[in-house]
Amino acid sequence: MAENVSPDAKQRPAMSDSLSARGRRAASTPLRIDYDAFQETERDRYHPVENPDGRIPLNIAENRLSWPELREKIEELTRSETIPDWVPGYTSAGGAPPFREALAHFLETHLTGCAIDPGGLVVSAGATSVIEMTAFILAEAGEVAVIPAPSYPVYERDLGNFSAVERFDLVTHHEPFEIGAGPILSTGHLDAAREEIIASGRRFRMLILTSPDNPTGGIFTIDRLRAIADWCIQHEIHLVVNEIYGLSLVDTAHPDISGDYEAELKFDSFAQVMAERQSEYLHLWYALSKDLGISGFRVGSLWSLNADVIEAYENLNLTHSISNHTQWLLSRLLIEDDFLRGYIARNRARLTSSYAIAARALRAMRVPYVPSRGSLFLWVDLSEFLDEETQSGEMRLWREIFDESGVLLTPGVGFGHSKHGQFRVVYPCVSPDELAEAMSRLKRFVASRRAD
Ligand SMILES: Cc1ncc(COP(=O)(O)O)c(C=O)c1O
Repeated sequence: MAENVSPDAKQRPAMSDSLSARGRRAASTPLRIDYDAFQETERDRYHPVENPDGRIPLNIAENRLSWPELREKIEELTRSETIPDWVPGYTSAGGAPPFREALAHFLETHLTGCAIDPGGLVVSAGATSVIEMTAFILAEAGEVAVIPAPSYPVYERDLGNFSAVERFDLVTHHEPFEIGAGPILSTGHLDAAREEIIASGRRFRMLILTSPDNPTGGIFTIDRLRAIADWCIQHEIHLVVNEIYGLSLVDTAHPDISGDYEAELKFDSFAQVMAERQSEYLHLWYALSKDLGISGFRVGSLWSLNADVIEAYENLNLTHSISNHTQWLLSRLLIEDDFLRGYIARNRARLTSSYAIAARALRAMRVPYVPSRGSLFLWVDLSEFLDEETQSGEMRLWREIFDESGVLLTPGVGFGHSKHGQFRVVYPCVSPDELAEAMSRLKRFVASRRAD
């Protein structure tokens, strides 16, 4: 027996042999492309006094700006309430009825502006679960979900891991300025994608839009949503709109950024189109993760007028359910209309002032970006600094920015876009002071590259 090899270790087969092919794939596929760099950032985190040269992460899609205010409210609620008797037991797999009612009330009061029937609303542990469940119910393995590019990289996993639904990145433009006034996805683009998918022997089963968008911050106007919805209904394609950033809007009239916007665009919820069209092909995703800054509470929802979809969801959702304690706690919070109205407005002001810090700095650097109307992101074009216009060129540049400035961005790889050298900046995941420090470092990086 060789030294240092225990009998146990000797008998145990290598891990890769003991797993299913799916398990082996999962074991060798990190959750995020920037995971290792994020760990480095955590070990050497910036602090203005204790670690002024430390690293600053601008890559985690979280809003940290409003938690102190929300925490106070949640603590106040938990101090004054007794836990009801339904909390420790099983409840409806699609969500506890009191929580679904409270969430429907929250949605119609603050987001949708139209009635939401709690009977068509189901909830799971975060938007991630909801996306996975929806794909499982709506599409067969090998069918296609079309998503306008660039878009949230993790859709690929959520659609593919369990349901084997294929992501199709629909490229509507190459240069970021082409979407400066908002998404340009048209029914012409959809016709072309449909033809391409049919020609490849597959079926175009779902279209996914994110509004406000991750990463561009664009919003789909209600007229564009109507036209796209009618096209989908005509072709019997499911249209799902993800409004996870629906209350995280930038105030485009803010004097520091108003010059970036040619026209005022109003955010209208897709729920209004659903209410008008009453179609079994239209669905809405929402989650509390971003607008309330509570991604760790794991609360996402699907609203659909398709009774079969809701029935299937109820029957499958046990593995994805949210803890009753969380559902109860939030059912108390979500009916606090006056508090939430104020909270949403103050959160919007905080988001806007952080957004303005980042946008002003980019403008001073003469680095192009897509003017955002909502979400937590700025989509930035640093392609001028690529040594070659390839994915590896982009990854090299991403690492150089991190090594030289200590600022961790998300590289464009995985967002499915045609142009390399685009990066995503998350502006509210650190304090405004940290953000200002990160932007000064990026400014120095840009200046030194241009000097070279
Ligand atoms: C567009 C979009 N959908 C879904 C999610 C996942 O949200 P959750 O944390 O609620 O699972 C994110 C998170 O970044 C997102 O940006």
